[in-house]
Amino acid sequence: EEVVHIQTSLLEWYDTVHRVLPWRRTPHSKKDSCDSVKAEGTTVAIMPAPDSLDCQKFAYYVWVSEIMLQQTQVATVVPYFNKWVTKWASVADLASATVEEVNTMWAGLGYYRRARYLLDGAKHVVDKLGGMFPTNAKDMLQIPGVGPYTSAAVASIAFNDAAAAVDGNVIRVVSRLRALPGDPTKLGQVHAAMAQEILDHERPGCFNQAVMELGATVCRPMNPSCSECPVQQSCRAHSQLKTFLKARRIPD
Ligand code: ADE
Repeated sequence: EEVVHIQTSLLEWYDTVHRVLPWRRTPHSKKDSCDSVKAEGTTVAIMPAPDSLDCQKFAYYVWVSEIMLQQTQVATVVPYFNKWVTKWASVADLASATVEEVNTMWAGLGYYRRARYLLDGAKHVVDKLGGMFPTNAKDMLQIPGVGPYTSAAVASIAFNDAAAAVDGNVIRVVSRLRALPGDPTKLGQVHAAMAQEILDHERPGCFNQAVMELGATVCRPMNPSCSECPVQQSCRAHSQLKTFLKARRIPD
């Protein structure tokens, strides 16, 4: 069925092209979630070995990276992320930092409110939640600075919760895949529902990141590289474009 084809093709593509990043747990494993790592006993190149790294620590890494990535590109985030987790290795460490310390660490990243969100979020997790991140997207929404996108990203990547992480890239990809009408820069319920509908429930974290990565590198806002796209055959925008061109005998 078409949804299964989209899931299989996107995950297979992601497994080959995904970038190795310091907040990604398993650069050498096809699985990226905490459960899978435990089950398979995979080795990890960049982050600490799985036995010294529980899901909570993983969630902390993913949360920090997702907040940093909100307005900033991956290449810029990497050194800031590494410095951040070297200074504050866990959510408990971060919770005891001062506003001045987090602002100093943030210097140059911009949108300083995000540093404050991380500090306030860490304090909330430590003071109100016993130092434990909620393991599903819905409960994670109570953390200051964590909205629907971030909660779904962290819960799916760290805890395998089947929540679609819907940002601008994902809305654009989905609106093209399904040829949905309307402005894809405005978040519509329909787009979010469609993203949830195509989400792979076995590997939701990898699937979410696959869609993000596709939107960033292939299904770009302008000049998408449809010839490199793993889901070209399932893309209604692409097939409609082909039909349109053919009907007008425009050579391709
Ligand atoms: N941008 C936002 N979240 C991301 C992620 N998990 N991986 C790559 N780019 C991202």
